[in-house]
Amino acid sequence: MNYIIAIDGVAGSGKSTVSKLLSKKYNLFFISSGKYYRAITYLYNKNNFHEINEDFINLVNETNIKLDNDSIYLNGEDISNQITDEMISNNISLIANNEIIRNIVNQKIREFSKEKDIIMDGRDIGTVVFPNANLKIYITASSWERTKRRKKELLELNKKVNIFSIWNSIVKRDYKDKHRKIAPLIKSKDAIKISSTKMSIEEVVNEISKHIKR
Ligand code: DC
Repeated sequence: MNYIIAIDGVAGSGKSTVSKLLSKKYNLFFISSGKYYRAITYLYNKNNFHEINEDFINLVNETNIKLDNDSIYLNGEDISNQITDEMISNNISLIANNEIIRNIVNQKIREFSKEKDIIMDGRDIGTVVFPNANLKIYITASSWERTKRRKKELLELNKKVNIFSIWNSIVKRDYKDKHRKIAPLIKSKDAIKISSTKMSIEEVVNEISKHIKR
C-alpha cells in the first residue's frame, strides 16, 4: 500500500479544497470519492431508471468512470459540469445508500492506492475504504458557518440565495450522511478531528501538514 491520507467530514466543511491544496503541496493524487457517487447518479438519471435493479448494476459495472484532476468522465464524456448539487440532488441518497453500488465504488477507488500516493476525501474513507490509511482526518464546521460559506460561493456565481433553504439542505444532508445504515459518516477512532468553524482554509492546511510525515 502506498501513502494514503483519508479526509472525511461533513458536507461543505472544506474537505475538497483542503485536499486539493495538500495534494499539490505533497505531490499526492487527489480523489474525491463523492464524484463517483455523483457520476453514478448522473448515469441513473440520464438512463431514466426508477429503481436500482440488475440492469442498472450491470450498466454501472460496464461504464468506464475516469477521474482526471478536477474532471470526471463517463465512457469518455466529460460530465464535470453535470454533477453539481442542484442537478443530482434528487437521487444521490438512493445511490449512496445502496450496498452493491458502494462496493463497486470502493473497489474502483481502492485501485488508485496500488499505483499512487493518494489523498482521498469522502464520508467513509478512514472507516471503510482505507481503514489502514497512514493519516486520517475528520473535518467539521458548524452548520451556520457552512451556510455562510455556501452563500458566498453562490453569490460569486451570481446565483440567487435563500439562506434558510441553504441551511436546511445542509442540516438534512448531515442527517442523511450520519444516519444511513451502510457506511455512515462517523469519526474513525484514530482520526484527528479538526473543527474548522473559526479557521481559514490555509490554517486547516497548515494544521494537517503538521501530521504529514513523508
Ligand atoms: O462529497 P460530495 O458532496 O461530493 O458527495 C456527494 C454525495 O456522495 C453525498 O451525498 C455523500 C455521498 N458520499 C458518500 O456517501 N460516501 C463518500 N465516501 C463520499 C460521498
